[in-house]
Amino acid sequence: MKLAVPKECRPGERRVAVTPDNVARLVKMGFAVAVEQDAGAAASFGDDDYSAAGAEVIADTRAIWQVGDIVLKVQPPAMHPGLGVHEAELIREGGTLISFLYPGKNAALIDALARRKATAIAVDQIPRITRAQKMDALSSMANIAGYRAVVEAASFYGRFFTGQMTAAGKVPAAKVLVIGAGVAGLAAIGAARGMGAIVRAFDTRPTVKEQVKSMGAEFIELDVHEDSEGAGGYAKEMSPAFIKAEMEMFAAQATDVDIIITTALIPNRPAPILITEEMVKSMKKGSVIVDLAAENGGNCALTEPGQVVERHGVHILGYTDLPSRLAPTASLLFGNNLTHLLADLGGASHFKLDLADEVVRGALVLSHGELMWPPPARPPAVLPPAPKPAPPKAPAAAAKTPSALGPAFAILGAAALVYLGSVAPPSFLSHLTVFALACIVGWQVVWNVTPALHTPLMSVTNAISGIIVIGGMLQVSGPPTSPIVMLGAAAILLATINIAGGFLVTQRMLRMFRR
Ligand code: NAI
Repeated sequence: MKLAVPKECRPGERRVAVTPDNVARLVKMGFAVAVEQDAGAAASFGDDDYSAAGAEVIADTRAIWQVGDIVLKVQPPAMHPGLGVHEAELIREGGTLISFLYPGKNAALIDALARRKATAIAVDQIPRITRAQKMDALSSMANIAGYRAVVEAASFYGRFFTGQMTAAGKVPAAKVLVIGAGVAGLAAIGAARGMGAIVRAFDTRPTVKEQVKSMGAEFIELDVHEDSEGAGGYAKEMSPAFIKAEMEMFAAQATDVDIIITTALIPNRPAPILITEEMVKSMKKGSVIVDLAAENGGNCALTEPGQVVERHGVHILGYTDLPSRLAPTASLLFGNNLTHLLADLGGASHFKLDLADEVVRGALVLSHGELMWPPPARPPAVLPPAPKPAPPKAPAAAAKTPSALGPAFAILGAAALVYLGSVAPPSFLSHLTVFALACIVGWQVVWNVTPALHTPLMSVTNAISGIIVIGGMLQVSGPPTSPIVMLGAAAILLATINIAGGFLVTQRMLRMFRR
């Protein structure tokens, strides 16, 4: 089975669908790979690198589209400026295409591919579920776009991001507001924090608060509360009252911050306008707005898609090609996403589009020319039937219901304690009390600490087992062969491993977050 990788023809597109590393992996998976001459040049991958990895390099554009059983591309097929023909006309009849396709807004393109009896897989339709993360090209590109948005903002902002105290004077840190803390927003927060800016972020989904805070940014909260989770964990459209409250907060922030990065998106909706002309006017001269939602209309009223404009002394960047501006990394991640997808589809030997597979069904737009998109709605999760109101029960039967079991257990437990108190040594009850209290305190402590901090918490609480070391030391006197001395020594050893190991694991975990 042969994969073909044409050179992207959209003006300004620098990415390539697979890198030489991907070619090597695809060849190992049993595919033959053909790459168009210079396909990777703009992303710093030479034809020699592709040949060395096992690809055939083909100079003729029409030929590359014809040789591939599966054509791998980044951008949806478009009019080829060099050939004067639409790429959809170039695909082999009955061939397969894997690329971004955005079928919701590209009906004419899908029709053209259908006429070629093509099978088309849109990587933008891969559902954002845990299993599909490795194939999720939208997230890979959004991550890059968020990072690059900060780099672009920095190049237009005439000041430092980080605050400095120098002999010549004090320079304040830049203040950055990130609107929308999805994949792109979180990447922007990370990059801006890395450059030393003070970062604030807002999102309609309060569930992202912990992620925002863990990246060192402040999460702005509103007094208005509203359910914000839509299908599949994506955001849903908020009420006018919520948007009004949110925009009042943005109006106040606009006078204070230097850079605004907007990423607010609700799937299949135009981007909400959140930054008005009045807000732009109120910003300090020299401020910068980067509008990542430019392609969907923009979150700022003054954004011009694909352009940089200066309005009221503020630069507004409406770039729609941010991932392409980091072409080598974007190609690397996109190529990895495609390689994972092809591996998931069975590689060359067992290649199969299994319609029962949620990922395949979600992304399949055409099957041999037949329209498969949108996929049927997934049946809602089957919830356990709601408990019926219990009919009144006779006293004997009621004793067996769960609610009645609680008091029964309590009485039994109390009786067992009284019995144990009468037969066990006097110290038993005090030990039992300490044990019960320790359980309650431990449970309360663990429950009230953020899950992200459980590892450091465990290592600190581990240190409490230092008491075992002391207990063990008190016991290790006498002949070394005595069981008590041996048990004491073992207690010292195990408790020491427990304490030291806990701190080592914590250090390792903290190093992962350190730059
Ligand atoms: P995402 O769905 O992961 O994140 C969007 C976030 O916006 C969500 O967390 C959502 O809760 C939030 N949001 C929605 N409505 C909001 C509102 N009214 N106020 C505040 N937050 C709100 O999307 P992702 O992948 O992070 O992409 C973000 C944007 O970046 C999209 O518009 C996408 O098209 C764009 N993008 C732009 C690129 C470019 O070159 N300009 C490249 C890649 C992505």
